[in-house]
Amino acid sequence: LVAGVDSSTQSCKIVVCEAMTGRLVRQGRARHPEGTQVDARAWWAAFEEASADGLLDGVSALAVGGQQHGMVTLDAEENPVREAMLWNDTSSAPQAEQLIEELGGAAQWVDAVDLVPVASFTATKLRWLAENEPGNAARTETVVLPHDWLTGRILAAGNGFEGWTTDRGDASGTAYWSPVTGEYRRDLLRLAFGREVGLPRVLGPAEAAGSTAGGMLVAAGTGDNAAAALGLGIAPGDVVVSLGTSGAVFTVHDDSVGDVSGAVAGFADATGRHLPLLATLNAARVLVAAATTLDVDLAGLDALAAQAPIGAGGLTLLPFLDGERSPNLPTAHGTLTGMTRANSTPAHFARAYVEGMLCNLRGCLDALARNGIHARRMLLIGGAAAAGSVREAAANIFGVPVVVPEPGEYVALGAARQAAWALSGAAEPPQWPVPLAATVEPADAQAGAQVARRYRDVLTMTHPGAAVD
Ligand code: XUL
Repeated sequence: LVAGVDSSTQSCKIVVCEAMTGRLVRQGRARHPEGTQVDARAWWAAFEEASADGLLDGVSALAVGGQQHGMVTLDAEENPVREAMLWNDTSSAPQAEQLIEELGGAAQWVDAVDLVPVASFTATKLRWLAENEPGNAARTETVVLPHDWLTGRILAAGNGFEGWTTDRGDASGTAYWSPVTGEYRRDLLRLAFGREVGLPRVLGPAEAAGSTAGGMLVAAGTGDNAAAALGLGIAPGDVVVSLGTSGAVFTVHDDSVGDVSGAVAGFADATGRHLPLLATLNAARVLVAAATTLDVDLAGLDALAAQAPIGAGGLTLLPFLDGERSPNLPTAHGTLTGMTRANSTPAHFARAYVEGMLCNLRGCLDALARNGIHARRMLLIGGAAAAGSVREAAANIFGVPVVVPEPGEYVALGAARQAAWALSGAAEPPQWPVPLAATVEPADAQAGAQVARRYRDVLTMTHPGAAVD
């Protein structure tokens, strides 16, 4: 048996699977405090709770997939210096701007690490810490990421800790590791933080971080999106649109991307390739907000949205309820426009929220296309992909058929698959089937394109420069 962990922004989920086939045997989960700054020890407590009652009995290998980018600062005794600053904390947006300028511009960053800093990336958080909390900065000896921290903690609890490790996928989200050379850019770390700190050793895709005294191998682990790519078994040409609380659009690619516009981050994946990715801060939480306003549950919102026509009678939502990262508008608010007496109904409102969420993700797909990455197959995953109105609107607005895999814990499954790979010693990860729930064809791609155009017009009008051609 192998186990995969998804240590996400909200919770810890663990799947236990057969190593050869990927068949799910059992699973556990526990919530932990969420937010933008969280004590890393809460992730360990959630792991302990989720794995209680012998969940890991008989498990030969385990790997952790974790939320990307979070800055976990450790003191000389390896204890957290302060709460971890997470990917969704936008306080370091000004520091991202400073860093871009100090290196000479976006092109220099792309040359160095295949991305342009935004507030999510670890380097900008280190600069924020140095500027705002000099005492905590001075006590910081080592900086690791959420999945690195949990991996180390699991090994330490099993008397197998031999030093901090990370993997290519997660290292590439720091903005001080190059997915092209496979090396840390310590000059960029010094630029961000003003001095050197200890960093985790970067492991190869099937390398082990260590083994517990009880003999359980702990594989490298990776960031959650790279883990999801592994769990879904995607190949170049497959583009994933993930509709979790936040959104992500990504694919695997053989070459680095080099997007000087900064829209596409050229991360590494968990297999030795690249993982071009765009993340949005506003996906399923937009639907939750609409449901709250209408005083219905998510199924009720889905039913309402399905009643209104494509285009919501002219109602357009820019869904920037929590600021936004793609496009890079950290301080933006949402905009609802085009109200008429005729579209002032709960159904039109529900539909406008669904379409607004998807139109922003369509902007992400357009950015991939500008970089020569076109979807041959589009996969829709995450909680909001369960809603019929979302699937149908996605096919229309994206203008291609969307494939919906069976609901599953793909981050945890990807981590489990990595663990099985590390255990096998084989050149490739084991083949695990991914069952599909549905393929939804665009019912009216023309109307969908019109909705996307109208959205772009409103975006250009309210945030000039945000919509790139
Ligand atoms: C990706 C990103 C998010 C987090 C969510 O760059 O910031 O997808 O990984 O956990």
